[in-house]
Amino acid sequence: MVDAEDAHDKLGERLLRTGLESDSGALALVIEHQGEPIGDVALWLTDREHRQAEIGWVLDPTYGGRGLAGEAVQATLALGFEHYRLHRVTAQMDARNQASAALARRVGMRLEAHHVQDWFSKGDWTDTLVFARLAAEHQVLGNGG
Ligand SMILES: CC(C)(COP(=O)(O)OP(=O)(O)OC[C@H]1O[C@@H](n2cnc3c(N)ncnc32)[C@H](O)[C@@H]1OP(=O)(O)O)[C@@H](O)C(=O)NCCC(=O)NCCS
Repeated sequence: MVDAEDAHDKLGERLLRTGLESDSGALALVIEHQGEPIGDVALWLTDREHRQAEIGWVLDPTYGGRGLAGEAVQATLALGFEHYRLHRVTAQMDARNQASAALARRVGMRLEAHHVQDWFSKGDWTDTLVFARLAAEHQVLGNGG
Protein backbone atom coordinates (compact mmCIF):
# COMPACT_ATOMS: atom_id res chain seq x y z
CA MET A 1 0.00 0.00 0.00
CA VAL A 2 1.47 3.34 -1.05
CA ASP A 3 0.44 6.34 1.04
CA ALA A 4 0.40 9.96 -0.15
CA GLU A 5 3.84 10.67 1.29
CA ASP A 6 5.37 7.64 -0.50
CA ALA A 7 3.64 8.62 -3.73
CA HIS A 8 4.98 12.16 -3.41
CA ASP A 9 8.53 10.88 -2.84
CA LYS A 10 8.32 8.46 -5.74
CA LEU A 11 6.98 11.15 -8.05
CA GLY A 12 9.78 13.47 -6.94
CA GLU A 13 12.35 10.77 -7.77
CA ARG A 14 10.81 10.15 -11.18
CA LEU A 15 10.71 13.83 -12.12
CA LEU A 16 14.49 13.90 -11.71
CA ARG A 17 14.89 11.07 -14.21
CA THR A 18 15.09 13.30 -17.25
CA GLY A 19 17.83 11.60 -19.24
CA LEU A 20 20.80 9.27 -18.97
CA GLU A 21 23.19 12.19 -19.43
CA SER A 22 21.72 13.96 -16.35
CA ASP A 23 23.13 13.56 -12.83
CA SER A 24 20.43 10.98 -12.07
CA GLY A 25 21.68 8.82 -14.99
CA ALA A 26 18.08 7.78 -15.51
CA LEU A 27 14.94 8.48 -17.46
CA ALA A 28 11.31 7.59 -16.90
CA LEU A 29 8.72 7.33 -19.66
CA VAL A 30 5.06 7.53 -18.68
CA ILE A 31 2.69 5.25 -20.61
CA GLU A 32 -0.50 7.17 -21.37
CA HIS A 33 -3.79 5.92 -22.73
CA GLN A 34 -6.33 8.53 -23.79
CA GLY A 35 -4.47 11.13 -21.74
CA GLU A 36 -4.33 9.05 -18.54
CA PRO A 37 -1.09 7.69 -17.05
CA ILE A 38 -1.39 3.89 -16.92
CA GLY A 39 2.19 2.80 -16.36
CA ASP A 40 5.82 3.64 -16.78
CA VAL A 41 9.12 2.43 -18.14
CA ALA A 42 12.38 3.44 -16.47
CA LEU A 43 15.90 3.17 -17.85
CA TRP A 44 18.90 3.83 -15.62
CA LEU A 45 22.65 3.58 -15.98
CA THR A 46 24.38 0.84 -14.02
CA ASP A 47 27.81 1.70 -15.51
CA ARG A 48 28.15 5.17 -17.04
CA GLU A 49 31.68 4.67 -18.34
CA HIS A 50 30.88 1.44 -20.17
CA ARG A 51 27.35 2.39 -21.26
CA GLN A 52 25.39 -0.32 -19.46
CA ALA A 53 21.86 0.19 -18.18
CA GLU A 54 18.90 -1.57 -16.63
CA ILE A 55 15.27 -1.24 -17.67
CA GLY A 56 12.10 -1.76 -15.63
CA TRP A 57 8.39 -1.45 -16.36
CA VAL A 58 4.97 -1.50 -14.79
CA LEU A 59 1.47 -1.30 -16.26
CA ASP A 60 -1.97 -0.92 -14.68
CA PRO A 61 -3.41 -4.44 -15.22
CA THR A 62 -6.68 -2.90 -16.43
CA TYR A 63 -4.81 -1.99 -19.60
CA GLY A 64 -2.89 -5.26 -20.00
CA GLY A 65 -3.16 -7.56 -22.99
CA ARG A 66 -3.14 -4.81 -25.62
CA GLY A 67 0.56 -4.55 -26.38
CA LEU A 68 0.87 -1.11 -24.75
CA ALA A 69 3.68 -2.07 -22.35
CA GLY A 70 5.58 -3.88 -25.10
CA GLU A 71 5.38 -0.84 -27.37
CA ALA A 72 6.67 1.47 -24.61
CA VAL A 73 9.51 -0.88 -23.64
CA GLN A 74 10.49 -1.29 -27.29
CA ALA A 75 10.58 2.49 -27.75
CA THR A 76 12.68 2.93 -24.61
CA LEU A 77 15.16 0.26 -25.74
CA ALA A 78 15.43 1.96 -29.15
CA LEU A 79 16.14 5.26 -27.39
CA GLY A 80 18.77 3.57 -25.22
CA PHE A 81 20.60 1.92 -28.10
CA GLU A 82 20.12 4.49 -30.86
CA HIS A 83 20.24 7.80 -29.00
CA TYR A 84 22.33 6.96 -25.93
CA ARG A 85 24.50 4.38 -27.72
CA LEU A 86 24.22 1.90 -24.85
CA HIS A 87 26.23 -1.29 -25.11
CA ARG A 88 24.01 -3.54 -22.97
CA VAL A 89 20.60 -3.30 -21.27
CA THR A 90 19.38 -5.76 -18.64
CA ALA A 91 16.03 -6.42 -16.96
CA GLN A 92 15.47 -8.39 -13.75
CA MET A 93 12.26 -9.80 -12.41
CA ASP A 94 10.73 -12.29 -10.00
CA ALA A 95 10.67 -15.62 -11.86
CA ARG A 96 6.99 -16.06 -10.94
CA ASN A 97 6.24 -13.00 -13.04
CA GLN A 98 5.64 -14.79 -16.32
CA ALA A 99 3.94 -11.78 -17.94
CA SER A 100 7.11 -9.75 -17.49
CA ALA A 101 9.33 -12.56 -18.75
CA ALA A 102 7.11 -12.87 -21.83
CA LEU A 103 7.37 -9.12 -22.39
CA ALA A 104 11.17 -9.25 -22.13
CA ARG A 105 11.27 -12.03 -24.74
CA ARG A 106 8.84 -10.15 -27.01
CA VAL A 107 11.11 -7.12 -27.11
CA GLY A 108 14.09 -9.28 -28.05
CA MET A 109 15.82 -9.70 -24.70
CA ARG A 110 17.66 -12.98 -24.01
CA LEU A 111 17.38 -14.92 -20.76
CA GLU A 112 20.90 -14.83 -19.29
CA ALA A 113 20.37 -16.10 -15.77
CA HIS A 114 17.89 -17.78 -13.47
CA HIS A 115 19.05 -17.15 -9.91
CA VAL A 116 17.52 -19.65 -7.52
CA GLN A 117 16.15 -18.40 -4.18
CA ASP A 118 18.33 -15.27 -4.20
CA TRP A 119 15.64 -12.92 -2.88
CA PHE A 120 13.60 -13.12 0.31
CA SER A 121 10.22 -11.54 -0.24
CA LYS A 122 7.16 -11.52 1.99
CA GLY A 123 8.19 -14.64 3.89
CA ASP A 124 9.38 -16.70 0.90
CA TRP A 125 12.61 -17.26 -0.97
CA THR A 126 12.03 -16.33 -4.60
CA ASP A 127 13.96 -16.80 -7.87
CA THR A 128 15.14 -13.96 -10.13
CA LEU A 129 15.36 -13.94 -13.92
CA VAL A 130 17.93 -11.73 -15.66
CA PHE A 131 17.36 -10.79 -19.30
CA ALA A 132 19.73 -8.78 -21.52
CA ARG A 133 20.02 -7.26 -24.95
CA LEU A 134 23.19 -5.99 -26.62
CA ALA A 135 23.55 -3.09 -29.04
CA ALA A 136 24.86 -5.59 -31.62
CA GLU A 137 21.65 -7.63 -31.27
CA HIS A 138 19.55 -4.49 -31.62
CA GLN A 139 21.34 -3.63 -34.88
CA VAL A 140 21.24 -7.14 -36.30
CA LEU A 141 17.65 -7.95 -35.42
CA GLY A 142 16.14 -4.48 -35.71
CA ASN A 143 13.89 -3.07 -33.04
CA GLY A 144 11.22 -5.71 -33.66
CA GLY A 145 13.25 -8.32 -31.78
C1 LIG B 1 4.79 -7.00 -17.24
C2 LIG B 1 3.53 -6.31 -17.67
C3 LIG B 1 3.82 -4.86 -18.02
C4 LIG B 1 3.02 -7.07 -18.92
O1 LIG B 1 1.75 -6.62 -19.31
P1 LIG B 1 1.12 -7.19 -20.67
O2 LIG B 1 -0.27 -6.71 -20.75
O3 LIG B 1 1.33 -8.67 -20.75
O4 LIG B 1 2.04 -6.53 -21.80
P2 LIG B 1 1.63 -5.70 -23.08
O5 LIG B 1 0.94 -4.44 -22.72
O6 LIG B 1 2.86 -5.58 -23.90
O7 LIG B 1 0.56 -6.62 -23.81
C5 LIG B 1 0.96 -7.83 -24.42
C6 LIG B 1 -0.22 -8.74 -24.57
O8 LIG B 1 -1.16 -8.07 -25.40
C7 LIG B 1 -1.46 -8.88 -26.55
N1 LIG B 1 -1.76 -7.92 -27.64
C8 LIG B 1 -3.01 -7.57 -28.00
N2 LIG B 1 -2.95 -6.66 -28.97
C9 LIG B 1 -1.65 -6.42 -29.24
C10 LIG B 1 -0.98 -5.58 -30.16
N3 LIG B 1 -1.65 -4.80 -31.01
N4 LIG B 1 0.37 -5.56 -30.16
C11 LIG B 1 1.07 -6.36 -29.31
N5 LIG B 1 0.48 -7.18 -28.42
C12 LIG B 1 -0.88 -7.22 -28.38
C13 LIG B 1 -0.25 -9.75 -26.73
O9 LIG B 1 -0.53 -10.93 -27.43
C14 LIG B 1 0.10 -10.05 -25.29
O10 LIG B 1 -0.80 -10.99 -24.75
P3 LIG B 1 -0.30 -12.49 -24.38
O11 LIG B 1 0.79 -12.34 -23.35
O12 LIG B 1 -1.54 -13.14 -23.86
O13 LIG B 1 0.23 -13.05 -25.65
C15 LIG B 1 2.48 -6.35 -16.53
O14 LIG B 1 2.17 -7.69 -16.27
C16 LIG B 1 2.99 -5.67 -15.23
O15 LIG B 1 2.89 -4.46 -15.08
N6 LIG B 1 3.54 -6.45 -14.29
C17 LIG B 1 4.04 -5.90 -13.02
C18 LIG B 1 5.30 -5.09 -13.16
C19 LIG B 1 6.52 -5.91 -13.33
O16 LIG B 1 6.50 -7.09 -13.14
N7 LIG B 1 7.65 -5.33 -13.72
C20 LIG B 1 8.85 -6.09 -13.95
C21 LIG B 1 10.07 -5.34 -13.59
S1 LIG B 1 11.22 -5.37 -14.92
